[in-house]
Amino acid sequence: MEEPAQERLKLRKPCPGDIIGKEKGDGFCMKVLLLNGSPRKNGNTTIALREMEQVFAKEGIETEEIRVGNQAIRGCIACGACSVKGKCVFDDLVNETAPKFEAADGLVIASPVYYASANATLVAFLTRLFYSTSFDKTMKVGASVVCARRGGLSATFDELNKFFTISGMPVASSQYWNSIHGRTPGEAAEDAEGLQTMRTLARNMTFLMKSIALGKEAYGLPEREPGIATNFIR
Ligand SMILES: Cc1cc2nc3c(=O)[nH]c(=O)nc-3n(C[C@H](O)[C@H](O)[C@H](O)COP(=O)(O)O)c2cc1C
Repeated sequence: MEEPAQERLKLRKPCPGDIIGKEKGDGFCMKVLLLNGSPRKNGNTTIALREMEQVFAKEGIETEEIRVGNQAIRGCIACGACSVKGKCVFDDLVNETAPKFEAADGLVIASPVYYASANATLVAFLTRLFYSTSFDKTMKVGASVVCARRGGLSATFDELNKFFTISGMPVASSQYWNSIHGRTPGEAAEDAEGLQTMRTLARNMTFLMKSIALGKEAYGLPEREPGIATNFIR
């Protein structure tokens, strides 16, 4: 007899190893990829991500963090080669991350705020990652996290969420816009509300990913029409 959906979810085991990828024939495991846009090793953005990781671990969700902010990553040159090659011409962390993103059920993008915007290295990375990959991102759950001393948080939050909302990715939300405050490394650990916002976000994201997994089993992904691209000139 078929087990009820809730029971099937409980039986799913966490995947062994730290490589993001579905374990064929070994039940089902959920994975979240975390992109850290801070160049600081133990900065405030990292504190926010650690808070989320603890919740994911309790929920049996596997995580992998990729440090982006400390890398030398160039921007997109609009060469269009990715549409032929299926990957970016610049063979760096972007192409390394692509299969991990494809295999993940959820993506967290976290950035320090620089001049009321995301870290430019992270933006260069995300632009190339999203533009050069053609795999279906529909219903992978996205969440963005922003960290600043004082201002520019919600502008940066909007900026990051736009990568999800052009990609068919539902956006997980929390009890407040997903932000944490701090200036010098470590200060964010004192932002109790910010930390709670991160825990709530991770729990809500987990719920969404599990619900979507059940929904996919029950109904499959939504039908997708062939794309129409107009540029308002012709
Ligand atoms: C180049 C630069 C620009 C910054 N711009 C802002 C800003 O617009 N608003 C703000 O509140 N903090 C700003 N900050 C402060 C950082 O957002 C803050 O120190 C944050 O904690 C850094 O996160 P991290 O420790 O994860 O790197 C800026 C810092 C730098 C280095």
